[in-house]
Amino acid sequence: MVNRIRKAVFPVAGLGTRFLPATKAMPKEMLTVVDRPIIQYAVDEAREAGIEHFVFVTGRNKSVIADHFDIQVELEMTLGERGKTKELELLHRDLPEPGTTSFTRQQSPLGLGHAVWCARDIVGREPFALLLPDMLMQAPTGCLSQMLRAYERHGGNVIAVEEVPHDQVGSYGIVAKGEEDETGFRITGMVEKPKPADAPSNLIISGRYILQPEIFDILSRHETGAGGEIQVTDAMLRLMETQRFTGVRFDGKTYDCGAKVGFLAANVAYALARPDIAPGFRAELRDILDRYDMALADSE
Ligand code: UTP
Repeated sequence: MVNRIRKAVFPVAGLGTRFLPATKAMPKEMLTVVDRPIIQYAVDEAREAGIEHFVFVTGRNKSVIADHFDIQVELEMTLGERGKTKELELLHRDLPEPGTTSFTRQQSPLGLGHAVWCARDIVGREPFALLLPDMLMQAPTGCLSQMLRAYERHGGNVIAVEEVPHDQVGSYGIVAKGEEDETGFRITGMVEKPKPADAPSNLIISGRYILQPEIFDILSRHETGAGGEIQVTDAMLRLMETQRFTGVRFDGKTYDCGAKVGFLAANVAYALARPDIAPGFRAELRDILDRYDMALADSE
């Protein structure tokens, strides 16, 4: 019997420099994909997987995230007075139960590993899920739910992975693959942003983890890695010396919303997946593509 995963950590204290100036006063995680902030998708995915407590590691300018997951009394009163029941229902559907969110501050953005370590007291000594909210994982069954199958079989630590073309491995954390069963494979190594020739595979670490609490002990050493930051990959490598890590191939499509192309692609994909928006949007998109194809042909 493995310990149930009850808590999920959402690190949202990064600077979002790739999205400046949009992220000067607004957190990257509040950028919208169609009509929902990015962070909401990650929380929905966690909730679908049975997560009961949502831990946000925030920083400066991020209080709007706490506001997003709270009741807006004036707004709700006004909507009620105007009979906007559909909109009210929408707000209530997204709201976590009272007492199921925690917010802690990272103070300085010293790296993802440091952000995770900041959640140590709230998580306590139990396994937990870690979701990087800027990685949007589109699938009929959420990525974290897919990972739980492997966790229930093998326990230990679980990481979602995804194949990318070999020439792109240098932008990601890459895993080495050992023996496999129908739930996943044993991870035998990890390397952060390798040269394509040195990469042990083309399977990238895609932003969803189930981790054992011993990771906090390793992170508490505050050792820095790539970019002078405290890296979660380095800590996982250490933990791998004593604990199992299982890789789960995510069945779906990931959009890296921390980068502009990924963010724009996510908006298109999520809009096309929405029955209320898709018909009108598809026509607009076709028109735009036709016009730009024509402009491109003219300039060639
Ligand atoms: P990123 O690697 O995308 O970094 O972080 P970033 O700082 O947000 O963005 P850029 O690279 O400057 O554009 C992945 C996730 O980890 C969080 C971020 O908020 C994001 O959700 N993070 C990163 C922290 O919480 N703290 C950190 O020190 C670094």
